Amino acid sequence: MATLRDVIRQKPWLGWVLFTGTVVIVFLLGLLASSIVERKLEALIAYTPQVEHGQFEPRNEVWGENFPRQYQSYKKTKEGSFKSKYNGNAMIDMLEVDPRLVVLWAGYGFSKDYNQSRGHANAVEDVRNILRTGAPVNGVESPMPNTCWTCKGPDVPRLMNEAGIANFYKGTWETIGHEIVNSIGCGDCHDAKTMNLKITRPALMEAFERMGKEINDVSHQEMRSLVCAQCHVEYYFSKKKIEGVSYLTLPWDKGTSVQAMEEYYDGIEFSDWTHAVSKAPMLKAQHPGYEVYLTGIHASRGVSCADCHMPYMSEGGQKFTDHHVQSPLNNVANSCQVCHREETEQLIQDVYSHQDRIIENRDKLEELIVRAHVEAKFAWDMEATEEQMKEILMDIRHAQWRWDYAASSHGGSFHSPVEIGRVVSSGITIAQESRLKLARLFAELGHNTEIPYPDISTKAKAQKFIGLPAEKLKEEKELFLKEVVPEWIEKAREREEGYEVKMVNPY
Ligand code: HEC
Ligand code: HEC
Ligand code: HEC
Ligand code: HEC
Repeated sequence: MATLRDVIRQKPWLGWVLFTGTVVIVFLLGLLASSIVERKLEALIAYTPQVEHGQFEPRNEVWGENFPRQYQSYKKTKEGSFKSKYNGNAMIDMLEVDPRLVVLWAGYGFSKDYNQSRGHANAVEDVRNILRTGAPVNGVESPMPNTCWTCKGPDVPRLMNEAGIANFYKGTWETIGHEIVNSIGCGDCHDAKTMNLKITRPALMEAFERMGKEINDVSHQEMRSLVCAQCHVEYYFSKKKIEGVSYLTLPWDKGTSVQAMEEYYDGIEFSDWTHAVSKAPMLKAQHPGYEVYLTGIHASRGVSCADCHMPYMSEGGQKFTDHHVQSPLNNVANSCQVCHREETEQLIQDVYSHQDRIIENRDKLEELIVRAHVEAKFAWDMEATEEQMKEILMDIRHAQWRWDYAASSHGGSFHSPVEIGRVVSSGITIAQESRLKLARLFAELGHNTEIPYPDISTKAKAQKFIGLPAEKLKEEKELFLKEVVPEWIEKAREREEGYEVKMVNPY
């Protein structure tokens, strides 16, 4: 057999081909090596701290110096133009969309003003603007306690650290308005030293303790949902824990299902308010998003909130977590198609069809409850007794609790369609039960014609029906926004100027 040298001697061009080939391969290998070094360097530079700050640094832009990609994507939560069929981040007046809500919440803050939720960066602005927090000008107090600030941003853990937890909750809402100016951000979910996920809200830790669980033992994947469960949960203000304090408490001692929490509230005879029309002792479901998610298929397959709402993305060869927390329908490719092979349109349709089917019945339940409130008022007007009304009012309480649990667990119709379907249908049964009892009562009282249903076809008409001075509230709010809020912002700016931030990057 001829050696390579013999072959080249016979065909010299082959030698040149081999030589050139080797040069090209060596060159390509060199390029690859240099690109790897460059990527590594890029990663190093990207993650080299630029500033040093403490855990209680509330300003997102300061944390953002060290993590520009996460910060830039976080800033997009300020956007307000995405609308899906039922959700999204646009400013939508829900009372205008569905005026029956005004009657359901008569006598309670939500009947004044309730908007579609927007992105995290708007949280502080939105809580100042909403009529529910009132217009604390010229010595007038807000109707809400400071507890209302708890889910609004990283100034909260800072203040709790300075003043203590109970002292933070104490007092009316305007007393710390100048302290809370940074919206939901880095310090709410992260440890400043390690950037590991961190639970910063005591109510969640305390609920775990009471259930005999240790929050620091959960898996990394569970943490990717529990950071959200600091705020996207059902809660109430307990007045019994510490004298004069509205102490934020999660009602999970008997479990997190709709009936376990109802049993808890009934057991302590808690009600958020007395209904202005029916006089029923009401519960307001806040936003049991985490509890509902737990009952769904994605949770049972180990998919976390962050998997869908904060998917990984890639930029300049860097993989990082998208901090633009939003409706996943605005980003199906990263949010769903990592796991599902179906087309975008198909996945969106799946979500809509779940929502459509739930909302069809939820809407019926809503009307039944409005009728029950109106009929209960009619019965009172006919001088029904407390004794005659007692069971009826408890039914109304339980039916509306179920309706609200379904409606306010934003995304619940997708997160757990079967459970929400169950909750709504149990609500319908209870609401029908209350109206049956009302019908019997009317027969006893000698009334046998239909009780008139009020004209509540617009928000204005509904607010008039419950006797709410909407225009006056709006005028007062405007004055508050003009006179008080700029002072808060100025005071906070002066305070923050004194914060210590060390520049550590020599580049
Ligand atoms: C609502 C909670 C939340 C907020 C607010 C938040 N993060 Fe994150 N962050 C997460 C989650 C969840 C992850 C994924 C962590 C994991 O799986 O280990 C993450 C990951 C990170 C990482 C690790 C690298 C990566 O991209 O996965 C960095 C760095 C980071 N965030 C920086 C920030 C900065 C800077 C801010 C403020 C502008 C911020 N985060 C605000 C929840 C949050
Ligand atoms: C510190 C409290 C807090 C934490 C932690 C938190 N949220 Fe929120 N979230 C809120 C509030 C408050 C709003 C409504 C803000 C507004 O309307 O101004 C909101 C709004 C949202 C919205 C609606 C945004 C839109 O564009 O429509 C989504 C989705 C959401 N949160 C998901 C999450 C997920 C997922 C996590 C965990 C990774 C999380 N949130 C952690 C308090 C929180
Ligand atoms: C991390 C993986 C993962 C992600 C991300 C994910 N899913 Fe799923 N999804 C699953 C698994 C696993 C199941 C259960 C299927 C099974 O076990 O057969 C499932 C089930 C479903 C189902 C059928 C069950 C039901 O409730 O109707 C739908 C629809 C669905 N997913 C839609 C979506 C959409 C829309 C998104 C994005 C917003 C998404 N999924 C994101 C893993 C994922
Ligand atoms: C499998 C993917 C998936 C998981 C897991 C998931 N979500 Fe969602 N979420 C969705 C989809 C899809 C919607 C409906 C969005 C729409 O209608 O525009 C939604 C809606 C929401 C909304 C209302 C959004 C808006 O625009 O107003 C909130 C808030 C929310 N989810 C929070 C959470 C929280 C908190 C968790 C974890 C406890 C979680 N989600 C887990 C997919 C998911």
